[in-house]
Amino acid sequence: MRIVESIHEMRDITKRARIEGKIIGFVPTMGSFHEGHLSLMKRGIEEVDLLVISIFVNPTQFGQGEDYDRYPRNIDEDNKKASELGVDIIFYPNVEEIYPDNYHTFVTVEKINNKLCGASRPGFFKGVATVVTKLFNIVRPHKAYFGEKDYQQLVVIRRIEKDLNMDIKIVGMPIIRESDGLAMSSRNLYLTDKERISALSLSRSLNKAKKMVHSGERSAERIISEMRSIIESERFTEIDYIAVCDPEEFDDVDEIKKRTLIALAVMIGKARLIDNCIVEVK
Ligand code: PAF
Repeated sequence: MRIVESIHEMRDITKRARIEGKIIGFVPTMGSFHEGHLSLMKRGIEEVDLLVISIFVNPTQFGQGEDYDRYPRNIDEDNKKASELGVDIIFYPNVEEIYPDNYHTFVTVEKINNKLCGASRPGFFKGVATVVTKLFNIVRPHKAYFGEKDYQQLVVIRRIEKDLNMDIKIVGMPIIRESDGLAMSSRNLYLTDKERISALSLSRSLNKAKKMVHSGERSAERIISEMRSIIESERFTEIDYIAVCDPEEFDDVDEIKKRTLIALAVMIGKARLIDNCIVEVK
């Protein structure tokens, strides 16, 4: 496994790989790997000839007062895990390499960037869209892998790929959970033992929502109210949003009539956690 810090060298490697006819896969990350990240890498390793991953804690997707400075960084551990899996290249640029002095250009995905997480984290999707576009341009992969835990992010990236004619296959991968249901996230590291117990209410509330839909409930209001009471019955929880919405445009629905996204974001102590599920109604 090679660690590459410069854009120039990274471009050179994938340029040569393309000439040799190799299929290039890419997993962009902010590091601090858990099983969720590793599942993306494993899938990539199965499917491509050269798997590149990036580790870059992207400053432009963090708002003022958010956790950019304390976001977990575990580069030695990450290198070890990636190398054991069989990743070929880690692209590990510094901030100046990606955003040199006098940087001006940003990518905005209109409309869906202001819903759900975008409403409470203004500028977040602009930062994500910009860095992912830059990383795609640097690595030039054929396929890129993203987790469905960040469902809205996945939809934003699919939009960029389609709208900007990038010709990259975007592969969405299922949420990986701890055995007690907590969705894996680098931010789970912020939780104290007691907060972690409260955090289980997120997946519990989604399971309840799924059961309600399964038993014929169609009212978004009643589902949200039930989810809210499960989460609010736990200490340390502060709900940012619970949404029952269209899975492409993120417009709220009153009644579940077709494929619908149920998504939530909750502050638990210092951790802002997100989770979601899709419900299908025939
Ligand atoms: O999901 C993440 O880890 C980040 O948002 C991403 C896609 C690597 C962009 O910085």
